[in-house]
Amino acid sequence: DKGVYPYYMLKEIDEQVIVAHTLSQYYFDDNAQIQNIDDDIISAIKAADRLYIVAAGTSYHAGLVGKRYFEQWTGIPTEVHISSEFAYDQPLLSQRPFFIFLSQSGETADSREVLDNVVKQGYPSLTLANVMNSTLTREANFALPLLAGPEIAVASTKAYTAQIIVEAILAHAVGDSQIDLKNELAKTAVEMQVIIDQKDEFKTIAEQALRGQKSAFYIGRGLDAAVAVEAALKLKEISYIQTEGFAAGELKHGTISLIEEGTPVFALLTQSKTAGLVRGEIAQVAARGANTIIISGKALAKKGDAYILPDVNELLMPLLTVIPAQLIAYYATLDRNLDVDRPRNLAKSVTVQ
Ligand code: F6R
Repeated sequence: DKGVYPYYMLKEIDEQVIVAHTLSQYYFDDNAQIQNIDDDIISAIKAADRLYIVAAGTSYHAGLVGKRYFEQWTGIPTEVHISSEFAYDQPLLSQRPFFIFLSQSGETADSREVLDNVVKQGYPSLTLANVMNSTLTREANFALPLLAGPEIAVASTKAYTAQIIVEAILAHAVGDSQIDLKNELAKTAVEMQVIIDQKDEFKTIAEQALRGQKSAFYIGRGLDAAVAVEAALKLKEISYIQTEGFAAGELKHGTISLIEEGTPVFALLTQSKTAGLVRGEIAQVAARGANTIIISGKALAKKGDAYILPDVNELLMPLLTVIPAQLIAYYATLDRNLDVDRPRNLAKSVTVQ
């Protein structure tokens, strides 16, 4: 039930705070020690020489973020693959691969096809899914729940943040994150609420930057590039504004020729290592007439940025950055009088290949 909300998408964006709390409670005990992850899962991952994250769409984008946690905290090289590609062009695998499937529905046919192949080849697998007792959770060796609650809007929001959180918790459980992850997640949830409470700012940004526009860009580097592709998918799939999510440094290799007077370019700027470079890239598109809308982390913010995000651990910034992107997509779509929850040509669960 939508309750007081006009659309499920807005309800589900708001629920991300509760989901973050729920996951911390479920996966950590009172002493901030991991619970509810079987030792068998942890030892199977530790035994692997390479992790393969396989997923589609938004879940694939959550994998791009999770790769960072697995590599940084476990030291195990991690690849992220699109299910529909992996299924028919399986890359050369390492000696001891471990597969992690990410899925909201647990029923995505492209991902099921890959899992079938993986099971036949005898490789170990784990599914992180929102719908437990789904095909992908039943057929993998292991499964962990995303606990996001039913997601009704076609455009995925809370399943994405839940996937990122569970990936972080799992990487922390296997390796050593050197941070008090339970506490960091609690702080992040508080800041998610702060952003959500400022919804109206994103309504204004969406209307000013996107009304009448046919195309837009999201740019960033590192984890911001990972969120940029999800931000672009959110905006394009419901508003029908053609949007590209791009690694900022790659623009100069071709795409920058698309920038015209007034083209909206959203820049995500939360990673200190590359902030200076991204500022340079923003200046380059602005010099070609782009309307740049900068969403920055507090520590890296400058006067004139459109929205300044609260500071949390840099690795967890994707959990904050995606919220403005979801809200901008939502309000741009409302502004066009379109059905936010049910974009044309799309189904909630894609059960065909
Ligand atoms: C986009 C969206 C889709 C799904 C994709 C995978 O908002 O929801 O891209 O993420 O179809 O679905 P699941 O996660 O159910 O495997």
